[in-house]
Amino acid sequence: MALHVIILAAGQGSRMNSELPKVLHQVGGIPMLERVILSAQELAPQAIHVVYGNGAELVKQALANYKVNLVHQKQQRGTGHAVKQALPSISSEDDVLILYGDVPLIGAQSLQHLLDCTPHQGVGLMVTEPKDPSGFGRIIRNMMGNIEAIIEHHDATDEQRQIREVNTGIMVTSAANLKKWLPKLKNKNAQGEYYLTDIISYAVQQGVSVGGVMVRPHEVQGVNDLWQLAKIERYYQKYVAKKLAYAGVTLLDWRSLQVRGNDYQISKQVTLGSQVILEGRVRIAKHAKIGPNVYLKDVDIGEHAEIQMGSIIEGASIAKHAIIGPYARIRPQTKIAEHAKIGNFVEVKNSSIKKHSKASHLSYIGDTEIGMRVNIGAGAITCNYDGIKKSKTRIENDAFIGSNVALIAPLKIARKATIGAGSVISEDAPANQLTLARARQVSLKNPKRKKGEKP
Ligand code: UD1
Ligand code: CA
Repeated sequence: MALHVIILAAGQGSRMNSELPKVLHQVGGIPMLERVILSAQELAPQAIHVVYGNGAELVKQALANYKVNLVHQKQQRGTGHAVKQALPSISSEDDVLILYGDVPLIGAQSLQHLLDCTPHQGVGLMVTEPKDPSGFGRIIRNMMGNIEAIIEHHDATDEQRQIREVNTGIMVTSAANLKKWLPKLKNKNAQGEYYLTDIISYAVQQGVSVGGVMVRPHEVQGVNDLWQLAKIERYYQKYVAKKLAYAGVTLLDWRSLQVRGNDYQISKQVTLGSQVILEGRVRIAKHAKIGPNVYLKDVDIGEHAEIQMGSIIEGASIAKHAIIGPYARIRPQTKIAEHAKIGNFVEVKNSSIKKHSKASHLSYIGDTEIGMRVNIGAGAITCNYDGIKKSKTRIENDAFIGSNVALIAPLKIARKATIGAGSVISEDAPANQLTLARARQVSLKNPKRKKGEKP
């Protein structure tokens, strides 16, 4: 008996007021539908079926890298109709878990709990008690406290609307049961839809037991508009922050931390300042300090490294004890070695900077290899682009590049070379020598001025 997961994601989401299909809106940097798929995958099901409809092309594209069975629901005629579309590819002996593409924070643990609590050959229903139950299907229980039916808000009496226990929509039962019950659904209700929820009363009529499992409202919070999405985002970020804090990460302002994506490893003893954004694959080693207003995407940051205020680092590795910033920009394919320093208003792209080298102020370093103990003066620029192609610059160990130097690539500055300030260097500079390329300063006596001309 294998498990199948059906994820409903065909709805229009018109209240989102958005051009993007609802389920592709992101929570924590990952589209909601992907989050649900990731949770489902943790249960190691036989197959995951995604019922899609609105925004079909975009949804299909978004799922191109996932092993899911896409089921097209041409017209959205209700949740029962949606589930029915996926049944032909599921064998009757198997179990079916139904999830929703717009309920993004559902966790595998709670789902496993639901599976474990589902009565044999019965129905397992995830229920919750939100502060405000309006809009939800209400859980109707009999005198014995057993679940008897779900009544949709639109179809409920005033008395039934007082019930706070509601249907999350998430449920488990056998494919055999679904194949028996779904064809019997009627759409004679307030919304003219085929309600999945009506199968509960069918189950009860046939003596099939229905078990309810209570879950915290946040985990099953659905998204119908962008305000709900914004609130879920905050809730999710709080959850991540809490997890990091308990794991030994110091958060100077947990409310402003943004973590986008699931691929982050932040070691103990790391400090994250306020307004830090982490995105993609992020590794931060022990004792690293990340200052305020820092954006890190796809980075590897070594022990004791310091990323100071306002820096942007993307696709780079920063070795231990390196210091970056404030206000530095490190672009992809950059490697900064141990104890190197990249200071304010320095941009580095596709370059490697070896141990103890420094570019402390106002530089552009692109397509460059810099050796050890090199000093790059303020305002020094590598001219790596001639308008057609990019060229490389090599600066060997212990070289000293003066301030405001333009290094026109391709170029090699050899060991211990010194380049005088203000030089425009277009040919290789030899080792151990001072190379200058600038007009010599002259001072002329008695400059002749015309009468009446101001100095
Ligand atoms: C549904 C439940 C309700 C529950 C609530 C929890 C039904 C009839 N009602 O109500 O008891 O309290 O969820 O949030 O099931 N969808 C499709 N195809 C369709 C219709 C819907 O894929 O034809 C998808 C939607 O995209 C959405 C989900 O199913 O993600 C739920 O549908 P929706 O119409 O929003 O149901 P609710 O009114 O929220
Ligand atoms: Ca809904």
